[in-house]
Amino acid sequence: MQLFNYREIRTPVFEETALFARGIGELTDIVGKEMYTFPDRSETSLTLKPEMTASVIRAYIQHNLGEQPLAKVYYLSPMFRQERPQAGRLRQFHQFGAEAIGGELPAVDAEIIALAVEIYRTLGIENILLKINSVGCASCRPAYKALLKSYLERVRTQLSEESQQRLETNPLRILDSKDKQDRVLTADAPLMKDHLCPECSTHFRELQASLTSLKIPFEVDGRIVRGLDYYTKTAFEIIGKDLGAQDALAGGGRYDLLVKELGGKDTPAVGFAAGFERLLMTMEKQSLLNVPPPVPLIFLAAADDEGKRWALSQALEFRRHGISCELDLLGRSLKAQMREADRQSARYVIVAGQNEINRQQFMIKSMKDGSETPVTPGRLLEDARRLQAQG
Ligand code: HAM
Repeated sequence: MQLFNYREIRTPVFEETALFARGIGELTDIVGKEMYTFPDRSETSLTLKPEMTASVIRAYIQHNLGEQPLAKVYYLSPMFRQERPQAGRLRQFHQFGAEAIGGELPAVDAEIIALAVEIYRTLGIENILLKINSVGCASCRPAYKALLKSYLERVRTQLSEESQQRLETNPLRILDSKDKQDRVLTADAPLMKDHLCPECSTHFRELQASLTSLKIPFEVDGRIVRGLDYYTKTAFEIIGKDLGAQDALAGGGRYDLLVKELGGKDTPAVGFAAGFERLLMTMEKQSLLNVPPPVPLIFLAAADDEGKRWALSQALEFRRHGISCELDLLGRSLKAQMREADRQSARYVIVAGQNEINRQQFMIKSMKDGSETPVTPGRLLEDARRLQAQG
């Protein structure tokens, strides 16, 4: 995120419910059935954040982030949605994501998509698929919606119950129904991408040209409609082919009307959010999570009370200088401390007691080959640094 010059933003865990209802859309599943909403003591309705975009825009307006020409922010935060828990779908999960607020050109969409894709590439993740679409704008979507609705009216009674309801509320979402029969019935349905106004059409074409020149593989999928109402023009998803039914690693798009809708100036924006747990699941499947736990370089073992006092202050001294170390805080015997050093795979042990302190000499013992090297207190830090540098 830093390489792309995005700066971190943190927003509260909850916001006033009205923000999400207006921002995400009253008729979406998230607002309709998935939010954790409760009144506080003064009967203000609050909601645990189900996503970040509405919160970020609230903060953007409230704290004048628009003073900069293009505000670029990123986040990593817990989110809450009351969905049926299953693999890859949790009620408290984490998202990382980014929003670029203030730019209308497809170059900003391309940067946001490149940023998302680059994160997976850097982590060595394979088997991902970027799907993009355009969901139009206020000038071309209404006519398309009417066209789609009249197309689906003819098969209304054969649609799933959920899709029949959506025919009234949000017919576009019928296109990403998982129901088999719905899929068959909508196989030849008109798609937004074929009914774009000239402006949306040019934007979509230029975005594709940018992605091609960046050598980012993508597929145009006219059925990407997204579950949040704020999108205009670009909508995209990154699919993890190793995930099960919940296969979206990340999703995002452009939302040119949201800032105004939430009380700010007319400001175009685009962003994405990615599921952290789904990323970890994918990394686990692809054996990318085999990172060994960090081990302390040195274990400071105390032979007596004098040694304990020394170990406590020497540990802080080491840590202040970037040397990772561990010591006994449980009053264990020297033998038990040696066992603990071994259990933690510490690479070296220094045993200290009255004797060593009086003599002004310690032994650094290598746990690998048992060899011991004498060291004076004045050289301890220097020697520890050398051992650390040896890796
Ligand atoms: P979203 O598609 O609702 O978009 O969520 C983004 C990602 O969060 C999903 O692709 C998925 O990886 C993860 N996710 C969503 N729900 C769950 C869940 N219940 N359990 C685990 N992971 C989940 C948004 O939230 C938009 N705010 C994205 C955006 C940012 N659009 C523009 N800017």
